[in-house]
Amino acid sequence: MKDLLRTQDLSRPDIELLLETAADFATNPMRSSTALANKSVAIYMTKPSTRTRLSSETAVAHLGGTPIFIRGDELQLGRGESIADTAKIISSYCSALIIRTFAQADVNELGANASIPVINALTDDDHPTQLLADWLTIREHFGKDITGRKFVYLGDGNNMSNAWLIMGAIMGAHVVAATPTGLWSPDPDVVAIAQKIAMQSGGKIEVLHDPEAAAKDASVLYTDVWMSMGDSESERDEKVLALSPFAVTENLMSLTQKDSVFMHCLPAHRGEEVEASVIDGTKSLIWREAFHRRTTIQSLLYHLVRDDLKGSSQ
Ligand code: CP
Ligand code: NVA
Repeated sequence: MKDLLRTQDLSRPDIELLLETAADFATNPMRSSTALANKSVAIYMTKPSTRTRLSSETAVAHLGGTPIFIRGDELQLGRGESIADTAKIISSYCSALIIRTFAQADVNELGANASIPVINALTDDDHPTQLLADWLTIREHFGKDITGRKFVYLGDGNNMSNAWLIMGAIMGAHVVAATPTGLWSPDPDVVAIAQKIAMQSGGKIEVLHDPEAAAKDASVLYTDVWMSMGDSESERDEKVLALSPFAVTENLMSLTQKDSVFMHCLPAHRGEEVEASVIDGTKSLIWREAFHRRTTIQSLLYHLVRDDLKGSSQ
């Protein structure tokens, strides 16, 4: 496996290896401080980022490499140079490329034309590196045995719900996406892939439109912003109205298991997708989850550059 372009590129053994190494990096960030010595990693972003940018730059630094951050408007790509040519040029200087942008197709094209690992750091369709941090956080909290546990995403059917369903399927988990019907429900193609993976892993995929039924007896309630980067402001009012019943409130949390937790990829909008008392309350794992963005990206870079990952056939 050269690249991480989609969440489904990862196999279960790859994820186990990545989480194990990330857990080591959590306790000893400098464990492999020469892995990227004299090497550079390009980080190209055409959308804003706090966590992914900073955790990628610090991960490269901890591995002894040099991060090169490039804003969307800084490459000749914006003036008509092709993605293929850009991929070849970056490959001749750098050891990996981390990219955040809009179209998944652009990331796929970079991967196809680069000789170095290309890592999807968020597209309109997916956010695989976030899910590695989420699952390490889940692991730390609940342990490896997730039998009988239900992992519920509530809100917009977007890049995060896609990644949540696929990653949960690979992990053999019972995962739920609770969204409005229609426009803001998860991509049917992604749901079909998740279902196919779950058939092999022993997982279970559900798409529900009733937030209370989804929250009942859940171990995790997860949510994301209602307006993603690139969403049209013209749809805001209609979208907020449709998503309001899926806000994670104290009332929804009261329906969950006694040992349940709240998770959020961040950034958060308190009073919109989550009640302030939930995200800032005792069940919230958001700070540990954000901390693991660095440990998991560090692990991913470490293993991709060494060509340790096998990938999946999905
Ligand atoms: N969760 C996440 O990807 O955060 P940023 O947009 O700040 O990178
Ligand atoms: N769905 C959000 C995730 C941010 C980490 C977005 O794409 O803006």
